[in-house]
Amino acid sequence: MSTLFRRKPVAIDHRGGTVLARTLSWPHLVALGVGAIVGTGILTLIGVGAERAGPAVILSFVIAGAICACAALAYAEMATMIPASGSAYTYSYVVLGEVIAWVIGWSLILEYSLVVSTVAVGWSGYASALLTPLGFPAALTQGPELGGVVNLPAVFIIAVVAGLLSLGTKESATLNAVLVGIKLVALAVFVAVAMPHFDAANLEPFMPYGFAKSVSADGGERGVMAAAAIIFFAFYGFDAISTAAEETKNPGRDLSIGIVGSMLACVVIYMGVAVAAVGALHFTRFADSPEPLALILRGIGRPGFATFLAASAVIALPTVLLGFLFGQSRIFFVMARDGLLPQALAKVSRRGTPVRITMLTAVLVAVIAGVMPIDAIAALANAGTLAAFVAVCVCMLVMRRRAPEAERRFRTPAAPLVGAIGVLGCAYLFFSLPQRTQLYFLLWNLFGLAVYLLWGRRRAAIAAAV
Ligand code: ALA
Repeated sequence: MSTLFRRKPVAIDHRGGTVLARTLSWPHLVALGVGAIVGTGILTLIGVGAERAGPAVILSFVIAGAICACAALAYAEMATMIPASGSAYTYSYVVLGEVIAWVIGWSLILEYSLVVSTVAVGWSGYASALLTPLGFPAALTQGPELGGVVNLPAVFIIAVVAGLLSLGTKESATLNAVLVGIKLVALAVFVAVAMPHFDAANLEPFMPYGFAKSVSADGGERGVMAAAAIIFFAFYGFDAISTAAEETKNPGRDLSIGIVGSMLACVVIYMGVAVAAVGALHFTRFADSPEPLALILRGIGRPGFATFLAASAVIALPTVLLGFLFGQSRIFFVMARDGLLPQALAKVSRRGTPVRITMLTAVLVAVIAGVMPIDAIAALANAGTLAAFVAVCVCMLVMRRRAPEAERRFRTPAAPLVGAIGVLGCAYLFFSLPQRTQLYFLLWNLFGLAVYLLWGRRRAAIAAAV
């Protein structure tokens, strides 16, 4: 029983002999963070949110953003205390013990892989609209459940991003910075063009479906919180930065600036976009659209800007894939190094990148993206992320009690309050997710626990040390 909760010591070298190249500093990390955060959430799910909450989707943004900000502060503290690649998985291993770490690692796999799959399918939606008029077969643009054969553009974009990552971290981080710029310009143009059309009448009725999640007459789960649980998708991605800890030149400074900076930048950008969106056009006209921001621009008579926005999305959405595929490969890598996943996968190439694990991850997420529809995937990704965020906030609170004097290069302000809001807020968001998502999440973790008890537990490298 005691081995279930064995912990890694804080002071050990978490790099454990297998070393990644240190090539990143904070501008790369802010770009990596913003690149991973701004994506399908703001470009597409803002419509789903409006369908669930009405104009009060603005509140959903505030709530999801505030909870994420608390988690980001806890992340910054933990990432600078334990600058190792495994993110929430590693912090849980050090603070809460092996079995919790396994469950969190398993949740992170859910988060990172399903985000990559979701965004690849979202990218394919925009790309396919450009490709099909050129004669590209429609059957190759969506999976079997939607009447197609395979979603080839989604598979293609994952292959491209995985290739970039395998070439070396720094090169792809630099390209990432350029693409992030394009994405931000597109959103700034949206706000500049839509905001002058702001009409307070569009905000009526402000909260048509109430605050807490409830089931509407048509069976849909709605309310400000139901929307916040989906909008949450738009905010995370900063956690991908913490998985770059072992490749960061000066982890103490670079990680905290990267995590908190990218998170705050995105809160500001999103509030501008959300207010401009619901103010410019009544929500009933863009709710549930697959391309709500472009639709709003067309709705206010600016089709040229709509095309510009859509083209920018196709060019720049891959930065989200880059951030999450990077993170996913690092989490697999660290779990394999700890013996919880097959160790042959942890091999690092001569360029210092874990090529095998990057490729394996890419194949798995490409299969999901190739055959699955987009909608169910995003909510499940959120469930995995919320579990990881709760764990990081708990780790931060536990370490404040257990090792109050330990060196912390970044200290969460008002830690007990921020930690508590993080834990309770994430729990509230989790229970505001669709019930089916909660069930799938439970099944995934039960499966993971079975794998751990039957296989991973005996293999864990730490057992040898103990
Ligand atoms: N925050 C990322 C997005 O919106 C996952 O696509």
